[in-house]
Amino acid sequence: MTREYERFRPIDTAPEWSDEVFDTCAELVEILERHSYRFARTMPGAPHSYTLKRTWPGADEFVEALRKMRAVERIEEFFRGYWYRRFNANGFKYWTMGASLDHILINRAIHAPPLDPYAAICNSYDLAIHKRESDVERSKRVYESLKIEPGTEILDIGCGTGCLVDFRFGDIDPERYVGIDPSRGMLGVFADKHPEFRSRLIRTPFEDYWPKPGQKFDLIVALFGVPSHIGEPDLLSGKVQWLLNPGGTAVLMYNGRKPEDMDFYRNLGTNVHGSGGTPVSDEFWTVRQDDDPDWLTVVGSKP
Ligand SMILES: C[S@@+](CC[C@H](N)C(=O)[O-])C[C@H]1O[C@@H](n2cnc3c(N)ncnc32)[C@H](O)[C@@H]1O
Repeated sequence: MTREYERFRPIDTAPEWSDEVFDTCAELVEILERHSYRFARTMPGAPHSYTLKRTWPGADEFVEALRKMRAVERIEEFFRGYWYRRFNANGFKYWTMGASLDHILINRAIHAPPLDPYAAICNSYDLAIHKRESDVERSKRVYESLKIEPGTEILDIGCGTGCLVDFRFGDIDPERYVGIDPSRGMLGVFADKHPEFRSRLIRTPFEDYWPKPGQKFDLIVALFGVPSHIGEPDLLSGKVQWLLNPGGTAVLMYNGRKPEDMDFYRNLGTNVHGSGGTPVSDEFWTVRQDDDPDWLTVVGSKP
């Protein structure tokens, strides 16, 4: 039985981010990813797949998935005359044809950023950022400063071409590593260099990344400018803390680019110089200004 308030939550009343909301998203993704999807062959002009309620072992679980979707959805998309609510997760978007709990199918399609400026430079990225010996020294300093022990579970946000793994190859167990990045090109280079890490890479922006329920990390890094790409400092801060194990550490390295410059950057694919970066600002984080003024490192440790 569905209740009225579940049917019509306005999209702009999406709940603030909190550990509870993060938990709901992770539980929802775990359900959605457990079922099979069939390609919608009647709509090749809008390629997508769907999963049918009647193919799920229990109808209750399907309604539970819809209920969780309804609770956390915060995006609407206009498509061919209709507004759809969407839930984005791990490189896919999920939606139904309306906002009620009475549906018989859930749709899914690839969700990729409209522009991927890194695709154009992925093949030359490693050499381009290591033109001089001093560039190599700088990378060494940053990657070698990270405390990685045999059991350390690592989340590498914006892992790019896998430079962290290049510089700490002997220290990182693929089974204890997850790399996420929205750029298919950058991840392709990473996987070609380190095939044993291929299954550990997820093409998604951090904003849409959801781990298995309960999965946590001892070390979370977002290095060489990645946090400057993430326009929601509160989401970044809260979600990183939610993803950390007790005793875990997060290292965020901003460049001279403010999140509000992002649209400009996305549109032009250029660097915006002269801003200081906008680091996350709650009590969890400590700002560490290194000798190198191009970068601002923000570190937090969970008690
Ligand atoms: C300058 S590269 C840094 C790569 C890597 N961390 C390193 O140490 O070489 C920035 C990376 O951030 C990724 N990125 C951009 N927006 C992102 C987002 N919203 N979430 C996660 N990664 C993102 C880009 O695709 C790119 O691979």
